[in-house]
Amino acid sequence: MISEDQKEEIKARVDIVDVIGEHVQLKKTGKDYVGLCPFHDEHTPSFNVVPDKQFYHCFGCHASGDVIEFLERKAGMDFMEAMRYLAGRTGVALRDERRDPEEGEAHREAREVNAFAADWFARQLADPRGGARAREYLDRRGIDVETRERFGLGWAPEEWQGLRSAAHAVGYDDPLLLALGLVKKKDPTSDRDPYDVFRGRVMFPIRDVRGRVVAFGGRALEKGPPKYLNTSETPLYTKGEHLYGLDRSHREIRRDDEALLVEGYMDLVSLAAAGFHNVVAGLGTALTWDQADLLKRYASKVRLLYDSDAAGLRATFKAADVLLASGIQAYAVTLPAGEDPDTLVQSQGAEALQTCLDDAVDILERKLQILAERDWFSTADRKREALDRLLPTLRAAVDPALQDIYVGEVAERLGMRRAVIEAEVERAGPIVRAPVHRPVEPAAPRVRPARTSAGPASRLLRVLAQDRERRHEHISSILESIGPEDFKNEAERSIFQSFVDDPDLERPPPGMDPATAALLEEFLAVAADPDELASAGRALHDSVRRLAEDRLYDEMDRLQAAIEATDDVDEKIRLTREKARLRGEASALGIRWAPSLRKHKGLNERNR
Ligand code: UTP
Ligand code: MN
Repeated sequence: MISEDQKEEIKARVDIVDVIGEHVQLKKTGKDYVGLCPFHDEHTPSFNVVPDKQFYHCFGCHASGDVIEFLERKAGMDFMEAMRYLAGRTGVALRDERRDPEEGEAHREAREVNAFAADWFARQLADPRGGARAREYLDRRGIDVETRERFGLGWAPEEWQGLRSAAHAVGYDDPLLLALGLVKKKDPTSDRDPYDVFRGRVMFPIRDVRGRVVAFGGRALEKGPPKYLNTSETPLYTKGEHLYGLDRSHREIRRDDEALLVEGYMDLVSLAAAGFHNVVAGLGTALTWDQADLLKRYASKVRLLYDSDAAGLRATFKAADVLLASGIQAYAVTLPAGEDPDTLVQSQGAEALQTCLDDAVDILERKLQILAERDWFSTADRKREALDRLLPTLRAAVDPALQDIYVGEVAERLGMRRAVIEAEVERAGPIVRAPVHRPVEPAAPRVRPARTSAGPASRLLRVLAQDRERRHEHISSILESIGPEDFKNEAERSIFQSFVDDPDLERPPPGMDPATAALLEEFLAVAADPDELASAGRALHDSVRRLAEDRLYDEMDRLQAAIEATDDVDEKIRLTREKARLRGEASALGIRWAPSLRKHKGLNERNR
């Protein structure tokens, strides 16, 4: 059996126009394609292929379906044949669950556990006594019962073993709960019992488009931090692949061909309570390419509804570029100062928000407005810089018609010739998509990533890979204490070197050894976890200290051996001074100098 996920993956990758185009002569009209229907006799074309929505439809005979159904009907393939054929075209490796029954079984059970947990959280919220505080909180925030039920909101009580005990009682064991990020251990190697991850939080089940719970977000009532706690990666959940609320809103979004995109869970449920149902929310990360692709299946327009502050504006422009590059037209909604979508509807009602939505402007227009407000069009120098600021949006607009319009507008506002702007766009080239973590090439052999050490070096690299925003800062502080030579594992050394060479790197540099590149890609593919980022500084400091410690011990050994080997008194003195200097360096790094501990701590082993 082919899993539903695989089927969706293949459908998302295949170009339906390409496939159908081999059987029917298609002509482009707007975004869609029309031709003579292959399923009934006709002389005027009423057969439509809608690439954005991945389906075909005939207005004459009402035949309709997806690319698989087309192949079944037209090419006489059965389902498996169609899947194999499409897999071959798209380069997706088919995983037949019959051959790997364990994986299918494990997933089934994992899904059951998530469904159980969502249900348990919902029951805690409904509990007359236990859920009272959470219900009051939601009442205060204007989330009515209907909305709570619509989104399956719940409550994780302030207990260490609440969910765990309930899950055990119905036969779900710790390994499963651990794998799903529902319970955790402080120290993964200890035999102490794991405890509930979500405690004292309002729970938001995160669902895939088909409504299956894949992860959770939890909002602290008053205690934090962090304000929100989210499931990190699990076998059922990869960050950046889902959009919160899409399972509920996709029909409206498809109907309107438009979505509203907000930043958070609360914004979304609060808008739903106020009657806005075509909304999706990101999930704690900047909008990803996968999320944009997902959205593109349902709508060709998105209105971005982020906080009104500077950070919100930056996030708006960043998300808009990703949307544009995925072929979605992006509009910015501007909220009154100090408001987010939730606070605005709560304090001023749905009409106030509707007014803002009606005033949404195209993303390029919004950029132009802001540049004009800040006087960027006054002098030649400033215009030059203004153009640089507009270029990302021009490059991101992959739709040729839209790009053409954008270039025209920028030319007019800057008072430059079109040709000049076109040349700039040409020179910068189209925006490059970050690598996806799934292998796409059909025949390319999978390079096995180089092995990492489990120790400080790999932790340091993970933080560097994820904390893109502060990478420059981190690298200069790391270089104060250690250098690439302190990484004993060759792959890790080379990855660190590549960050030093280019702190902004988004993918492995050309020429990097493939196994090392694969490892680096793994580091980069992991979406940043806000909790981890919050403690990034401390994690880095600790890793650096431990790497420096290894080096200092090594040098100390070397010096000691040299002191013992030499008969030259001056040399002995020089080496002894050197040792003293090392001690000073160690204590500056907070390393307690105890050479005798070295063997026991296995310091030599650790960094391998
Ligand atoms: P905000 O801090 O804007 O919160 O984070 P909010 O949505 O307005 O929530 P309320 O109104 O204070 O309850 C926006 C989104 O960023 C992610 C969450 O997805 C949140 O919805 N986030 C925020 C985290 O993942 N962790 C955090 O600690 C904070
Ligand atoms: Mn808010």
